Amino acid sequence: MAPDAPTPDPSPSAPASSAGGTAIHRLDRSRATDDWYTPPSVLDRLPKFDLDPCVPLVGPSPWQRVDSTFDATTDGLSRDWWGHVWVNPPYSNPGPWIERLAEHGDGIALIFARTETGWWSDHVWSKADLLLFIRRRVSFVEPTATADRKGHNAPAPSVLVAYGAWAVQALRQSQIPGHFARPEADDGD
Ligand SMILES: C[S@@+](CC[C@H](N)C(=O)[O-])C[C@H]1O[C@@H](n2cnc3c(N)ncnc32)[C@H](O)[C@@H]1O
Repeated sequence: MAPDAPTPDPSPSAPASSAGGTAIHRLDRSRATDDWYTPPSVLDRLPKFDLDPCVPLVGPSPWQRVDSTFDATTDGLSRDWWGHVWVNPPYSNPGPWIERLAEHGDGIALIFARTETGWWSDHVWSKADLLLFIRRRVSFVEPTATADRKGHNAPAPSVLVAYGAWAVQALRQSQIPGHFARPEADDGD
């Protein structure tokens, strides 16, 4: 699901499921897949990661710097995670991946700003150390388009979410255009 033609600004106001899943979270209603590469405009500005637990079956993008990967056949959700982890999750069901990264506590996630969902409330607002709301829509790349790296605009705003000190520093130094936000612990006041 991502646009076969770039979609400048599809309405992000369509109803979302309480689970944070379903087709609305996919990039394109005409291409029902979760296979989208993070573009070089994001990954080139971040350090090398130790693990990406969710890459397409054809492998990570040529521009991604990462030591180890899992895909749908090796099932990154059921594996141990280690080191600095990069997570651009399957957009059809991001919640379990964000929960897992929050538990791991060392890495960065790239997700849509679905601030109304339960998983966002439980694992982003409550546990993240720094957010970077990316200026403009991210243009995700189909695995078949790695040669020209031509992307398709996402149907919603994207956010980089940092867990742990290494990830906070990586976001601060990235120079990715956008605005920072730092969640505050809810102390009950
Ligand atoms: C949005 S893509 C992210 C690609 C890559 N991580 C990147 O940032 O360029 C998410 C990928 O997760 C894969 N995936 C889905 N379920 C998975 C699972 N259980 N374990 C590992 N990967 C999975 C999908 O096949 C899809 O290619």
